[in-house]
Amino acid sequence: MTIRLERPEDIAAIGAVTTAAFEGRPYSSQTEALIVDALRAAGALSLSLVAQADDGEIVGHIAFSPVDIAISAGDWYGLGPVSVAPGRQKEGHGQALIREGLERLQAMGAAGCVLLGSPLYYARFGFETDEALTYGGEASPYLQRLVFKGRPPRGSVTYHMAFGA
Ligand SMILES: CC(C)(COP(=O)(O)OP(=O)(O)OC[C@H]1O[C@@H](n2cnc3c(N)ncnc32)[C@H](O)[C@@H]1OP(=O)(O)O)[C@@H](O)C(=O)NCCC(=O)NCCS
Repeated sequence: MTIRLERPEDIAAIGAVTTAAFEGRPYSSQTEALIVDALRAAGALSLSLVAQADDGEIVGHIAFSPVDIAISAGDWYGLGPVSVAPGRQKEGHGQALIREGLERLQAMGAAGCVLLGSPLYYARFGFETDEALTYGGEASPYLQRLVFKGRPPRGSVTYHMAFGA
């Protein structure tokens, strides 16, 4: 399995993997594939990685995009959507995508990364819930951050408008 940057010829497979991964998930808006396309169209797909199996199949994808945080310094990014094809989950692809993505983000000079997701899953990567951050006007246990450099950010987190797709 290889983790690498997306290429134009991967775009259809990324959409299919994203749609399949989120299908039927109660926390999903079922718009995640549209969001990835809208981020790409807006030039806001800051980092887009695929997991490619040895047979060439795209089995996973992760997107990172810029976020605004009210009180923060440096460049902050949002992690997600992250998707692994339903038949290929729990084989480590998700963790490999996340670890490689975070390493690359840090190498790009990012100050840190935020996400909305299960703390049970993301704590292993160093993400922490922080009540100083809010999303939609409220603190949330699902809102987590990972600081690469500088002080922890505070206040309202706003994702790119493509998340309204
Ligand atoms: C979340 C996702 C990307 C993880 O990818 P994966 O390749 O299955 O994950 P890995 O094999 O790297 O890791 C598996 C571990 O993650 C755990 N895990 C996966 N999804 C989880 C979740 N939503 N909450 C808590 N733990 C989760 C598994 O139980 C397993 O735990 P273990 O290591 O203690 O056994 C994948 O399950 C997926 O595409 N899910 C549907 C889409 C989605 O929910 N995306 C994330 C939205 S925030």
